[in-house]
Amino acid sequence: MTDKPGVLLLTPLFYGEREKLDTLFTVYEFKTKITPEIAGKVKALIGDGQAKVDAALMDTFPNLEIIAQYAVGFDGIDLQAAKKRGIRVSNTPGVLTEDVADMALGLFISLKRNLIPNDRLLREGGWLNKEEIPLSHSASNLNVGIFGLGRIGHAIADRLAPMSKSISYCTRHKKDVPWTYYDNVTDLAKAVDVLILAAPGTNETKGLVNKAVFEALGSQGVLINIARGLIVDEPALIEALDKNIIAGAALDVFAHEPNVPKALIQSSKVVLQPHLGSATVETRTAMANLVIENLQAFFAKKPLITPVI
Ligand code: GLV
Repeated sequence: MTDKPGVLLLTPLFYGEREKLDTLFTVYEFKTKITPEIAGKVKALIGDGQAKVDAALMDTFPNLEIIAQYAVGFDGIDLQAAKKRGIRVSNTPGVLTEDVADMALGLFISLKRNLIPNDRLLREGGWLNKEEIPLSHSASNLNVGIFGLGRIGHAIADRLAPMSKSISYCTRHKKDVPWTYYDNVTDLAKAVDVLILAAPGTNETKGLVNKAVFEALGSQGVLINIARGLIVDEPALIEALDKNIIAGAALDVFAHEPNVPKALIQSSKVVLQPHLGSATVETRTAMANLVIENLQAFFAKKPLITPVI
C-alpha cells in the first residue's frame, strides 16, 4: 500500500469533513515541529488568509506539490516562487461571498450607529445612571462607493443598493452594472460618504488608499475594509482619524496581522474585527470541503476545481 500524501495545516482551525481529510491524507497539525522526515513527507500545504508562504517556506518541503488555500485571497503566497518549482495553488472563491459581504454591512451599520460603544455603555450601567448617549448617524440614504467589484464587492452593492442614495464603484474596467463607474479610487472617494474596500491585495492595490484618498473622502466620510490591510496606508489612516480628515473606519483586516496599531485599538472612531469575514461555521465548512475537493482532484491527477495557478 502506498503512503497517503502528507498535508500540513498552516491554519489552526479547519472545519468541514475533517475525518475525510484524515482518511485521505496524513495530516500534520498547525505548529507541528517540522523534522526533516516530516518535511520530506509534506506534499501539500493548507494556508489561510493570513498564512505567509514564501520561497524559503516552500523550500523547507522538497516534495511540495500543491498549496491549497483555505481562503479566497492568495496574497500571502509567492506565486512566482511556486511557479518556478511547478507547485500548484488553489483557493476557495464563491463559497464565502455572502458572509464577507454581510461582515461589510455589519461593520458599516455598527460604525454608523455606534453599536459597540453603546453596548459597552449599557453593560457598564450608563443607561441606568442616565448618562448622556450621543446620537449616532444614519446608515441609510448615503452615497456608497465600493473599490473592487468582484463577487464580494457585487454582493455588498446588492445589499446596500436598496438602502442607499447611490452606489458607485471603481475597478480597472467598467462593468455592465447599473452603478456609477470611477476609474480611480480618489475620484470615487470624493463622490461618496462611505468607501468600502473589496479588492484583492496585489502589488497594484498596495497602499492605494492613502492620504489623498482620505482627504477626498472628507470629514463626514467613513472607510470600511473587509479586503486586505495592505490596500490601506495604515499610518495615513491613523493620521486621518486623528486629525478628523475622515469620521471613522471599520476594519476586519490590517497591514500586519495579527498586530493592530495601538492608535487604532485606542481610537473611539473605529470598529475592529480580527479578520473574521468568512468565519462562520457554514462558510468555513464549505471552504474546508472545497480545499479537500481540490486536494483530491490534484492527487487523482484531475483538473483543480478552483485553481489559482
Ligand atoms: C480571507 O481573508 C480570504 O481571503 O478568504
